[in-house]
Amino acid sequence: MQLNQRVAVVTGGASGIGRALCLRFAAEGARVVVSDLNLAGAESVAAECGGVAFRTDVGSEADLRALVAHVEQRVGPIDVFVSNAGIAPGGLVETPEEVWERAMDVNLMSHIRAARLLVPDMLRRGQGYLVNVASAAGLLTQLGSAPYAVTKHGAVAFAEWLAVTYGDRGIRVSCVCPLGVRTPMLEGSDDPIKALLLPEAIDAAQVADAVVAGMAAETFLILPHPQVREMTGRKESDRDRWISGMQRLARRLEGEG
Ligand SMILES: NC(=O)c1ccc[n+]([C@@H]2O[C@H](COP(=O)([O-])OP(=O)(O)OC[C@H]3O[C@@H](n4cnc5c(N)ncnc54)[C@H](O)[C@@H]3O)[C@@H](O)[C@H]2O)c1
Repeated sequence: MQLNQRVAVVTGGASGIGRALCLRFAAEGARVVVSDLNLAGAESVAAECGGVAFRTDVGSEADLRALVAHVEQRVGPIDVFVSNAGIAPGGLVETPEEVWERAMDVNLMSHIRAARLLVPDMLRRGQGYLVNVASAAGLLTQLGSAPYAVTKHGAVAFAEWLAVTYGDRGIRVSCVCPLGVRTPMLEGSDDPIKALLLPEAIDAAQVADAVVAGMAAETFLILPHPQVREMTGRKESDRDRWISGMQRLARRLEGEG
């Protein structure tokens, strides 16, 4: 899909990858809606890209419903919806219930609820594009965070299911799975995660370039870091060997931390 004149909503648009997507989509000629929990941040990005801002907590079904209704009334039918907002809570096996629930709501249920709100109308119109930002953690794992690993795997699984179920009925689906990206999320991570990911981290603008190229080609899996394809291949070919390798990496990082 080409983005010129398309109505494109980006959640988590006030910062990092979401902000880069808003700016890049606007440069491609899209009419951008910058949605974020942080309204002042969304307004500032909307001013940069000539878009409109809307405050949304993607963890709330009512907020997502209000976002979709607002855009359809004020801007027009939604052509592209990017479920990008996400959180990265740390947490081992003792992670409390409320942390799991919030991670599920923000990283996974937001994608499911957005699709529930958007797909019926997209099917009627015979077109629409859902871009779900998961993570390489959704294909591999996330050291030190069970909620992140699990919710991002769920996001990948849901995007695959959407593509299988509706992809031949005019609805395009892409799932974006970056490794480290230099954003406030990565900068604010625990030291072992930063030590692991920062050396190979890319800029948010590079992720936006990969997303626009992936959308033009209508590729399901968008991997801004090409090495992730090889890493997932190693995991698929021998999971026991992959788990041993990840255990060694986790112990090494613990020793350095
Ligand atoms: N940075 C990385 O290394 C990396 C790697 C892989 C995947 N990702 C994913 O990319 C996405 C964007 O991350 P980022 O690195 O740009 O993070 P970021 O922290 O820079 O930006 C996230 C934005 O989402 C907003 N947000 C958080 N919770 C929200 C909610 N409940 N409702 C609405 N907005 C909310 C924040 O206010 C912020 O503006 C996330 O889904 C993240 O998991 C990031």
